[in-house]
Amino acid sequence: MTANSRTALVTGASAGIGTAFARHLAAQGYSLLLVARRADRLNDLAAELRDTHAVRCDVFAADLTDPAAPAAIVDHATLQGIQIDVLINNAGLSGNTAFTETPWPTLAGEIQLMVTAPTELMHRTAGGMRERGWGRIVNLSSLAAFSPPGASLLYTGIKSYVALVSQSLDMELKPHGVHVTALCPGFTHSEFHDVMGTRDTASKLPGILWQEPDEVVREGWNAVMAGKPVCIPGTVNKIVASGVRPLPVRLQYVLGRTLNPFKNG
Ligand SMILES: NC(=O)c1ccc[n+]([C@@H]2O[C@H](COP(=O)([O-])OP(=O)(O)OC[C@H]3O[C@@H](n4cnc5c(N)ncnc54)[C@H](OP(=O)(O)O)[C@@H]3O)[C@@H](O)[C@H]2O)c1
Repeated sequence: MTANSRTALVTGASAGIGTAFARHLAAQGYSLLLVARRADRLNDLAAELRDTHAVRCDVFAADLTDPAAPAAIVDHATLQGIQIDVLINNAGLSGNTAFTETPWPTLAGEIQLMVTAPTELMHRTAGGMRERGWGRIVNLSSLAAFSPPGASLLYTGIKSYVALVSQSLDMELKPHGVHVTALCPGFTHSEFHDVMGTRDTASKLPGILWQEPDEVVREGWNAVMAGKPVCIPGTVNKIVASGVRPLPVRLQYVLGRTLNPFKNG
């Protein structure tokens, strides 16, 4: 089977890293199923990809904080005769308010969006990949998973789950031809900090810390094709991760409390 007959489901395809993934995969001949809430953006991207790369490109608008969304996406794919060979679990955001001051539905939505939905999408698609003997799954974790924890944010914990569960599933599935990679970017130019409300702080960080989405995607896609279960893209990010990981928990905690520019609480 070639890329031309394979389909990639990309969540969060309406902006940033997800859009870059859709473009990268379409350029390689993959058909696409694009998911996010903003249907207008998805439709514009789908039209661009069909025109530029002559690939099939379907759109399914869904809010992944809705527990019914993962089943609805996969049911839609089945009805349309689409077989998911590649899953890019990318949709995500970070909250920016203190834990005790954030209403539970907001926190539950973050967990549904970045923990439950990607896990359910893997569960609903990995069995078919395994039966067919080929599949690729990229889960967007973050350098945050290897960094000191940030006060009150669920984000570090959520992205740590993503990094670890990706490795566990990779161990289970790799013997069956299915590779799972946790892609762990550092600061990447996208709408992430606009959504988080931290654009002003983020803009003051040195340029050397930042990557473009297409660099992150290129390295992440090469990693999953090569069967690497964890990919930290960019030299600076690799240095940060390898410098922080060996530190004792107590010291990481102090660093997280003092150095994290987005800390609150
Ligand atoms: N940018 C960074 O510095 C950075 C660093 C490390 C990791 N990451 C991770 O990379 C991933 C992509 O982030 P990005 O930087 O590309 O951010 P972005 O530009 O803000 O894009 C986020 C994407 O997620 C989608 N999304 C958000 N909430 C959703 C919901 N409830 N239902 C469906 N889709 C939803 C958005 O689409 P709609 O708004 O249209 O729904 C959008 O397409 C995230 O998982 C993020 O945690 C980012």
